[in-house]
Amino acid sequence: MQLSDLKAIVTGGASGMGRTFAMELARGGATVVVADLDQAKMDEVVAAGEGRIHAIRCNVAQEEDVVALIDGAHEKMGGLNALINNAGIFRDGLLVKQDKETGAVKKMSLDAWNAVIAVDLTGPFLCTREFAAKMIATGTKKSCIVNISSIARHGNQGQTNYSAAKAGLVADTKLWGLELARYGIRVGAIAPGFVDTPILQGMRPDVLEGMLKGVPLRRAAAPEEIFQAVRFVLECDYFTGRCIDVDGGLTL
Ligand SMILES: NC(=O)c1ccc[n+]([C@@H]2O[C@H](COP(=O)([O-])OP(=O)(O)OC[C@H]3O[C@@H](n4cnc5c(N)ncnc54)[C@H](O)[C@@H]3O)[C@@H](O)[C@H]2O)c1
Repeated sequence: MQLSDLKAIVTGGASGMGRTFAMELARGGATVVVADLDQAKMDEVVAAGEGRIHAIRCNVAQEEDVVALIDGAHEKMGGLNALINNAGIFRDGLLVKQDKETGAVKKMSLDAWNAVIAVDLTGPFLCTREFAAKMIATGTKKSCIVNISSIARHGNQGQTNYSAAKAGLVADTKLWGLELARYGIRVGAIAPGFVDTPILQGMRPDVLEGMLKGVPLRRAAAPEEIFQAVRFVLECDYFTGRCIDVDGGLTL
């Protein structure tokens, strides 16, 4: 598929990488719906999109929101053939941690576990299910889903919840690739390392410097560099079921 053929939903498209994906897709001639909780930031993306970007407020963890998103996006764009599952959150913490002085054991809360699983795993499940059902119902011959995972998929200390969600998303990328191929739906995943987004920009410079020392290429990725991988998955009609790590060599 060419970018100019795409009618794409970008979840979490109001900020960070999702915003870049929406803008780059629009620049390449695609029509885009950003789906996010943050209406004010979505309005900014729509204004910057010069008529190619629309917005639908959606909580990807809520079934009724996702059903309305897929129908609404199809209607707004006069069709639909791509989905970028990008919305994500993190609530980091160790599984258990003993305080050296008091001996008290702090635990990752069930709320922190559930919140991350809901947005980062249930969200892509609901969006992919509804998207695939729409592709089949409308007889769309070719379509593509890109799941934004993370190198935390390999298991990252302090991210019990996030690592589980991002690894689960890669497992589902493989099986959705298998299950959906017969309907002309391709599925790929991208696992970024450190990316220069508001999360990173908000870190203490010395902490950030320490983190980046572990990256063979010695820097964070620009969101546009992650988009290059997203673009490959969208454009390469022979790619499905796999995850591409774009991490500057961090997990080598
Ligand atoms: N930034 C990084 O270094 C990095 C690295 C690897 C993977 N990722 C992944 O990339 C994706 C984007 O990350 P980012 O850094 O650009 O994040 P970000 O926080 O800048 O943007 C995430 C967007 O998702 C939206 N969102 C949150 N919960 C939502 C929900 N329930 N429904 C709809 N929208 C919701 C937020 O409002 C926000 O606009 C995430 O899935 C993240 O896990 C990020």
